[in-house]
Amino acid sequence: MRKPVIAGNWKMNMSPNEAKILVTELIPLVKDAKCEVVVCPPYIDLAAVKPILEGTNIKLGAQNVHWAEKGAFTGEVSAAMLKELGVSYAIVGHSERRQYFGETDETVNKRARAALAAGIIPIVCVGESLSQRENGETDALVTAQVTLALDSIPASDVERLVIAYEPIWAIGTGKTATKEQANETIAVIRAAVRSLYGEATASAVRIQYGGSMNAANATELMSMGEIDGGLIGGASLKAADFSKVVNY
Ligand code: PGA
Repeated sequence: MRKPVIAGNWKMNMSPNEAKILVTELIPLVKDAKCEVVVCPPYIDLAAVKPILEGTNIKLGAQNVHWAEKGAFTGEVSAAMLKELGVSYAIVGHSERRQYFGETDETVNKRARAALAAGIIPIVCVGESLSQRENGETDALVTAQVTLALDSIPASDVERLVIAYEPIWAIGTGKTATKEQANETIAVIRAAVRSLYGEATASAVRIQYGGSMNAANATELMSMGEIDGGLIGGASLKAADFSKVVNY
């Protein structure tokens, strides 16, 4: 019922020329994908890859979005600017942004609302650190993160958006959450959405797993009932690797 969405988060990798080569290689490899396919290159690559992706099944995503319409926000990019470039998804609240760039639950919420208002689907990232998992804080933390990220967002918008569950200890470490761990915590996130919005919204919202997901573990992760896709970092930087995840 929920169409899985698999998104590549390129992070700060790939120049515009490298990005053009990567998407050109990727297009034929994923053309028959059953899931929605998204690539999220750095901002500076968006204009370069947009014409190459036109008419394909690969959608364009950004890695962030600012909440203001315009103004004195040096270094930031607005949702309307992204929309004009053909962007349909925007990652918000990635743990690297929370850790290195002062992203808070409040700014995550503001970014998500701005994206939705411009017709861009936010991919809202949540997830615990290793010590939080070891202290048994995971469920309370992801519930709080989701609740704050969705503040003042109506059910009709929540049904369209994507949540990415990314345990910080699994990101870029080669340590994937087990399929059971991922499925359980995603069920907790879905329960949080259910208690805020009811069953229809909870069963519509797509919740991805992210954290060292790759060609070798995508099939088993995607076999789990709660997991509606993936947010892929390292394994999205080579067309062959990413296409294997997408064609899980
Ligand atoms: P990874 O990154 O696949 O390299 O672990 C995932 C992410 O941070 O979105």
